[in-house]
Amino acid sequence: MILKIKTSADVPSSEITPESAYYSRRDIMKAAAMGTAGLAAAATLGGIDTPLFAQAKNYAAPRNPKFVADPTVDPLNKLEEINSYNNFYEFGTGKGDPVQYANKLTTSPWTVEVDGACNKPGKYDIEKMIDFTQLEERVVRHRCVERWSMVIPWVGVPIKHVIDKCEPQAKAKYVEFHTLLRPSEMFGQKTGSLQWPYVEGLRMDEAMHPLAFMVVGLYGKVLPNQNGAPMRIHIPWKYGFKSGKSIVRIRFTETMPKTTWAVQNGNEYGFWANVNPEVDHPRWSQARERRLPGFATSRPTLLFNGYADQVQSLYAGMDKKVLFY
Ligand code: MTE
Repeated sequence: MILKIKTSADVPSSEITPESAYYSRRDIMKAAAMGTAGLAAAATLGGIDTPLFAQAKNYAAPRNPKFVADPTVDPLNKLEEINSYNNFYEFGTGKGDPVQYANKLTTSPWTVEVDGACNKPGKYDIEKMIDFTQLEERVVRHRCVERWSMVIPWVGVPIKHVIDKCEPQAKAKYVEFHTLLRPSEMFGQKTGSLQWPYVEGLRMDEAMHPLAFMVVGLYGKVLPNQNGAPMRIHIPWKYGFKSGKSIVRIRFTETMPKTTWAVQNGNEYGFWANVNPEVDHPRWSQARERRLPGFATSRPTLLFNGYADQVQSLYAGMDKKVLFY
């Protein structure tokens, strides 16, 4: 089964969005006109860090109708579900650790180093890497290798926009994304829970695919730290660990990157990590997933997380088993 893609006319915000958890487009416009104080008042969000979030920078962006999950099948998760159950080992290995500790991270100013096989190596401010006038919102599925899933309204730009600015050379076959290394603010990096910094990577054609997204916002506001502020990638057809957070380095390589989880345990978390219900993880089946909150609903996992029609041509002729770990 494939995710049904609707046009914006088919999917009014009010239908997709739980009323209690998301303000309307009209509210955003009204709040923007009123400034930050008005924004706090206009937002009607519930949840654990609502006051902070309500005051956060406004990243309201038009929804891209090409990437909107069917709300009748995949209802949107609430903000407090998306920002309180996280994997971000730099802030502890518990799912509730990042929301508690990630506020320690300083995310401004933010510099990204570009290096490897490209024509524009250097250190760039985030504003040079991301065109904030081009932000769009997408509502996509997020599937963790641990079998939980959510539906998230990210705000960002296609990764392609960022990569194009770097002018990769023809010999670049892969791109690496490195997380910030700052143990003074990320206490998890003082432990050996993983090899630091966290590194993820994609083949160039995967990274340039229209679905591959550079995220800077959530629910129309700046991305909460625990979700990977100020910029993280999200690759909707892959398991969540491919989506590196708080990125400070983009490196173009000729050889397959040594990604953090593959170094940690390559037998269980390989480079490709494409969602496939038919290929079991060595310790559990991937046939079904549990939707947050509460894990009450168990549902069948979809090939490529429901995006097979858009991405399976990337892997034509490649070995199925190898591809999924
Ligand atoms: N990025 C960094 N830097 N550190 C991490 O521990 N965890 C990964 C990924 N990116 C992780 C990371 C895993 S395992 C998942 S499932 C997703 O982030 C979780 O993203 P979310 O917390 O926004 O749901």
